Formats: sequence, structure tokens, C-alpha cells
Amino acid sequence: MDVMEAIKERRSVRKYKPDPVSEKALRTVLEAVQWTPSWANTQCWEIIIVSDPNVKSELATTLPKGNPAISSMTEAPMVIVLCGKKGTSGYYKGQVSTEKGDWLMFDTGLAMQNLCLAAHALGLGTVVIGMMDHRKATQILGVPGDVDVVAMTPLGYPAATGGSSKRKEIEGFVSYDGFGKRKR
Ligand SMILES: Cc1cc2nc3c(=O)[nH]c(=O)nc-3n(C[C@H](O)[C@H](O)[C@H](O)COP(=O)(O)O)c2cc1C
Repeated sequence: MDVMEAIKERRSVRKYKPDPVSEKALRTVLEAVQWTPSWANTQCWEIIIVSDPNVKSELATTLPKGNPAISSMTEAPMVIVLCGKKGTSGYYKGQVSTEKGDWLMFDTGLAMQNLCLAAHALGLGTVVIGMMDHRKATQILGVPGDVDVVAMTPLGYPAATGGSSKRKEIEGFVSYDGFGKRKR
């Protein structure tokens, strides 16, 4: 699949079939994470694959009522939890390199996008889930203190395709030669 096609056609999927995801497909999705760019190639990501129905159900309780992705957590055959090791991305010899501090959120964000695009190219659905009780998820999964749970996504075959999703016009977010100079 062409990159632009994958980028533009991917939609958040919140309804899943119970059909299993093959080891081969899962491996491809994980390779997409593996090849994500990162700060000084620090690769701070950690992935937890959850396929135990009991753990998936427990994790679903970390989403607040009204989060439209709740049912997808138990419908999909697996949930991928994306974490980041703290104090790695954006650090040099243990010191932060920029005023931004830890770049963990940035690098794991790139990893999540790679994951979602690779999944889409394989016909699999994803939806990034960030609105959740991260502390509770940390406890459920036994994540150590130096690792941050960032986001998760169900992974499986879509039972319904995601709806349409509007975007701002390019002219609405691009400036030329200085912020806010919208005309070239
Ligand atoms: C950081 C982040 C957090 C998100 N959290 C949630 C969430 O908790 N629940 C949900 O249903 N969708 C969540 N989404 C999905 C967005 O709502 C979705 O990507 C956006 O509306 C655009 O739609 P599209 O992905 O179909 O293009 C999240 C997306 C991102 C990038």
C-alpha cells in the first residue's frame, strides 16, 4: 500500500470481529514499531500485548464511562499497550538535553502512528486510546516505576469501518517565514 494512501485511509476503528490476528501479522506490526525513529536512536518504547480476556476486561475498566472505545477493548482479540522508559529520550549522560525534558511522549507517539499505519496496511484496525486511568493500568499490568504507560490500542479485524473524519485546511496551519504568516 502506498504511504499516502495508508495515511489518508486509516481511521480509528471502534468495532471489532473476534477473529484472531496471526503471529505473522502481529510481527509485522511490531516491526513497524521497531523501525520508528527516536531521539538518538534511544528506542524508549516498551510494548505489552494483552490477549487474556480477563486482563483485557480489567484494562477496559481504566477507560472512563463515555469513552467510545470501551467495547473495542474486549471485542478485539488483543490490546497493545504502549509504554515508554523514562529518562531515555531527550537525555544525554543522564541529563535532559532540552527544555522539553523527556521526549518519551514524542517517540512513543511516532511508534504508535507507525503501528497504526502498518496495521491498516494489513487490513487490521486500531484506535489510539489515551483517555484512561494510567495509574490503574500501570497496576493491572505490573509496570515498573521507571516506565510510563502512554496509550493503548485494540488490534483486530474491523467489524465496521471508522466514520469520516474531517481535517483542517492546510492553509489553516502552515505559516511562511514566521509564525502566523499564512500567505507565501
Ligand atoms: C493521543 C490520542 C488519544 C486518543 N484517545 C482516544 C480515546 O481515549 N478514545 C477514543 O475513542 N479515541 C481516541 N483517540 C482517537 C481520536 O479520537 C481520533 O484519532 C480522531 O478523532 C481522528 O479520527 P481518525 O483516527 O478516525 O482519523 C485518540 C487519538 C490520539 C492521537
